[in-house]
Amino acid sequence: MFSSRNRAIGKAHSKLILIGEHAVVYGHPAIALPFPTLTVTCAIEEADSGIHLDSKLYSGPIDQIPKRLKGLAICIHKTIQEIGKHHNGLLLKIESMIPIGRGLGSSAAIAVAIVRSLFQYFNCELSDEKLRELVNIAEIYAHGNPSGIDMESVCCDEPIWFERGKGIASVAIRSSFYLVVADTGRAGDTRSAVGSIKHKLDKSPIQTKQSIDRIGQYTLDARNALIQGNLVQLGLLLNLAQTELEKLGVSDHGINHLVNIARNAGALGAKLTGGGRGGCIIALAENCVQAREISEQLNQNGAKRTWSFKVEETQQFQSITS
Ligand code: MEV
Repeated sequence: MFSSRNRAIGKAHSKLILIGEHAVVYGHPAIALPFPTLTVTCAIEEADSGIHLDSKLYSGPIDQIPKRLKGLAICIHKTIQEIGKHHNGLLLKIESMIPIGRGLGSSAAIAVAIVRSLFQYFNCELSDEKLRELVNIAEIYAHGNPSGIDMESVCCDEPIWFERGKGIASVAIRSSFYLVVADTGRAGDTRSAVGSIKHKLDKSPIQTKQSIDRIGQYTLDARNALIQGNLVQLGLLLNLAQTELEKLGVSDHGINHLVNIARNAGALGAKLTGGGRGGCIIALAENCVQAREISEQLNQNGAKRTWSFKVEETQQFQSITS
């Protein structure tokens, strides 16, 4: 990040949920990872008057922003109000590499980049707490009932253990591994996916709760597998979580197809990541050669695109926040 008198840039990266999505909305833990390959930047320049956005999503005055993006406009207004400094006009230029609606945290990352750039522009210090408070405004608008995991994971540069209302802790990873991310090419809608599970819970509470609880248990087991460096066990748990996500109705034919391709190509485990119903899958690979083979198979069999990256080992066991 840098700033001068009339220009500033704020950045954020995307995220991946390793395991625990959806169950995390109901108080179970989830494990998320930063996905630094895909980033978003917000560059601010002085404008003659008003506040304007320049982005692929929308370009124009923020007071005329489309309804689905209104959360961003509210977040910008609240941030400027919070900073409390005068300006004549602002132009916010957003450039994002994060595909929208793919479970990669694009909405949270855009909001983080915006808030960071505004504080930078006005030369004000931004606390972690204030950043989360302001980004949450946009997230509530975008997702309805967000657990907060997207916001936390795009703010953090290391893997996190997240529990709603309890904050985050670091995750110990004994053996490094590779993840292949594959995009179905279709945007999912987290808000409606979360809503569909709520509906299912009202209609068939016993089976739905059972699936949610199982995902919670697999997440606890996954943390142990990471601590022990047991990648085979971790892969098995990713597969088990995918089975429950399918039962919950948030997977779909396209996701299941890519999950099967990844498993047949040698992945230790594969599942959807994020809200589902479109979006991306992740596949676990032991090494770089295996990751390349899985990527190739996914690319040849329907993935719109793939990315693979190494998750490094960590040795941290202490709580980051509470
Ligand atoms: C979306 O990335 C994760 C969900 O669990 C929703 C949430 O936790 O807010 C599906």
